[in-house]
Amino acid sequence: MKKLLMYVLAITVLGLGSAEAAVYKGQKVYIKKCRKCHGGGLEVAASKKKKTWKKLMKKKGEGLAKLHLENPKAKKSYKYFGSKKYRKRAKHLKDFLVEYAKDSGNVPACN
Ligand code: HEC
Repeated sequence: MKKLLMYVLAITVLGLGSAEAAVYKGQKVYIKKCRKCHGGGLEVAASKKKKTWKKLMKKKGEGLAKLHLENPKAKKSYKYFGSKKYRKRAKHLKDFLVEYAKDSGNVPACN
């Protein structure tokens, strides 16, 4: 019974806030994994158009991973981009990047 209640709650929460939650989760991934090399976050997201992000983040972020794995300067990120963890969260990261893409109109206030 308790378990069932938990499921119902979880589904409700997921259903209600999934779009915002994904963007937020993606931002968290960014802050944890990308900021140390790229800084900011919103600036990086705003450096490309939605279409470019969608392309880079297709197939669980394959394009973005490849871009790093092929660049000797990004050596320190190889482990992360080769990991399952990256692929698992790639979707959230994509939601964040697309949400704040150059042509998204979602330019956040400077704070
Ligand atoms: C270990 C450092 C490192 C980490 C971690 C890292 N990157 Fe990078 N990234 C680089 C380097 C180095 C380049 C190549 C830039 C260059 O050659 O000037 C790059 C390139 C890029 C580019 C291409 C830039 C362009 O103008 O085409 C994007 C987009 C990018 N990274 C996004 C991300 C995202 C999103 C994450 C987090 C999931 C991330 N990076 C994590 C080091 C890193």
